[in-house]
Amino acid sequence: ASPGSEGGPLLGFKSVPLSSADAIQVPEGYASQVLMPWGEPVGIAGAMPAFKPDASNSGAEQELQMGMHHDGLHYYALDGARRGLLVMNHEYVDNGLLFADGEKTWNADKVRKAQAAHGVSVTEITQQADGQWQAVRPSRHARRFTAATPMAVQGPAAGHALMKTAADPAGRRVLGTLNNCASGKTPWGTYLTGEENWAYYFALDGDPDNAHHKRWGLRKGKGTRWHEHDERFDAGKHPNEPNRFGWIVEIDPFDPASTPVKRTAVGRAAHEGATVALTKDGRAVVYSGEDARFEYLYKFVSKERMKPGGGAANATLLDEGVLHVARFDADGRGRWLPLVHGQGPLTAANGFADQGEVVIKARQASDALGATKLDRPEWVALDQNTREVYCALTNNSRRGGDKDPGTDAANPRANNTMGHVLRWKEAGDFDGETFEWTHFVLAGDPANERAEAKGNVRGDIFGCPDGLWVDARGVLWIGTDMSSSVMGKGEFARLGNNMLLAADPRSGEVRRFLTGPVGCEITGSTMTPDGRTLFINIQHPGETPSEISDPANPMRFSRWPDGVGRPRSATVVIRKRDGGVIGT
Ligand code: FEO
Ligand code: CA
Ligand code: CA
Ligand code: CA
Repeated sequence: ASPGSEGGPLLGFKSVPLSSADAIQVPEGYASQVLMPWGEPVGIAGAMPAFKPDASNSGAEQELQMGMHHDGLHYYALDGARRGLLVMNHEYVDNGLLFADGEKTWNADKVRKAQAAHGVSVTEITQQADGQWQAVRPSRHARRFTAATPMAVQGPAAGHALMKTAADPAGRRVLGTLNNCASGKTPWGTYLTGEENWAYYFALDGDPDNAHHKRWGLRKGKGTRWHEHDERFDAGKHPNEPNRFGWIVEIDPFDPASTPVKRTAVGRAAHEGATVALTKDGRAVVYSGEDARFEYLYKFVSKERMKPGGGAANATLLDEGVLHVARFDADGRGRWLPLVHGQGPLTAANGFADQGEVVIKARQASDALGATKLDRPEWVALDQNTREVYCALTNNSRRGGDKDPGTDAANPRANNTMGHVLRWKEAGDFDGETFEWTHFVLAGDPANERAEAKGNVRGDIFGCPDGLWVDARGVLWIGTDMSSSVMGKGEFARLGNNMLLAADPRSGEVRRFLTGPVGCEITGSTMTPDGRTLFINIQHPGETPSEISDPANPMRFSRWPDGVGRPRSATVVIRKRDGGVIGT
């Protein structure tokens, strides 16, 4: 039986009210603590530089510390629910917080530090006798993967002409991972991280008419200014370097000597994350949304079956299989369209020379197949008990605009400021080629005037669903990401700060579990195997620092979690005071 499933109600806690306070709010009977904010040393032996609150840590020090902007995370048990590895993404950086003088000056060490604050961290954590969690430092498991860490490339794009660069003429070794957003834990014990908005990192001076770059959102401009000291980020000079980002990267946290692998068979996208199911005969199914307006939802099905023996035994499982893209039809059915070279329009005559080019140009291939253009698909969640799948479509203010696609069955609201959650069930097993879908909930606030912003939430109102996962008892957890540019204003005037909600998939009831500090979004959340500790990530409290000194705009002012100095992204650990299962 699932932990805590002994007859009680699925949602047993008292909901918390909306809040605009610069604090974490949890239900009565719960306690929270902050763990491992940006800048804390991860615990590599002999290399644990302390965080400097004035942001004067060097690039070399940042390479040994927690990155910025905590996002997707998972817990890997070393000793059940008592000791484990916390693996998490550090999505991007805010230069105003990362450097003592922001962007007033620019130099090679700033680029090194910015790259070092990206990527993934592995920390060992343990629960104390008093119930509190703390990092084990040093730990032989502690690691940082940054935007400069060497990574292998496998699958159909490995060694492809479009992956070769001056620095890597073989096209099989990439430096770094970028804009790591959501993440997935595989049944064989590894970590999958999604490279999301990689396009914005590249400067582009030459050839603005390159149709491939254009389709992926590369634009003329200076990008992150990394190219000024790391020339590979100049896409005019190194046009293939962008092709080496936008992948799902697999990391084996249990093997401290392992090299991360970019899994190109799973397709190139502005990947939000990667959620893994197994078919009844043990093949891996990877779902991934592409968080961009009018982009796609993907599903990869492996050819081989998972083997016992962890990451090492499954080192090529995600390298062979069939990638599909979703089409949602108006009759409540849908179809997974295969992205296979030589099938349908995916031929050399149409610009797809081989399967490598199909996966590198997955967007163009999905365009050619007529896949459904969605309202920014973020996390995908899997209910192992009912075998239902969910995807959060966070919002799309351009839906139905003059130059953009109109509404359709799956994306039914013009100017979709509030977002919605799709739910579907595959025909047969998770590898099904068709599915039946519905809207689980349309987010919104019924007090809004505009019909499209009212929503149909049963219970506690919210906007902009982003994080999404189902716990062992079957609770659907929803983290929100209302943008700091709209928070507290207009149609969001009554919704306060971002929040974490718990939904009952059967009744549809949504109950608010937590509210976050000012300006933050709620990103990843996960539990220990016993369901008694919940870890969530708080990203970009106080966004945007350039407005910190604006007293007329206090919504954005945050000194969370330290109460002084710079706001810092951090993990929050939540327990029930009586030691019970979270949510009961
Ligand atoms: Fe990184 Fe789509 O959120
Ligand atoms: Ca997200
Ligand atoms: Ca988001
Ligand atoms: Ca955000």
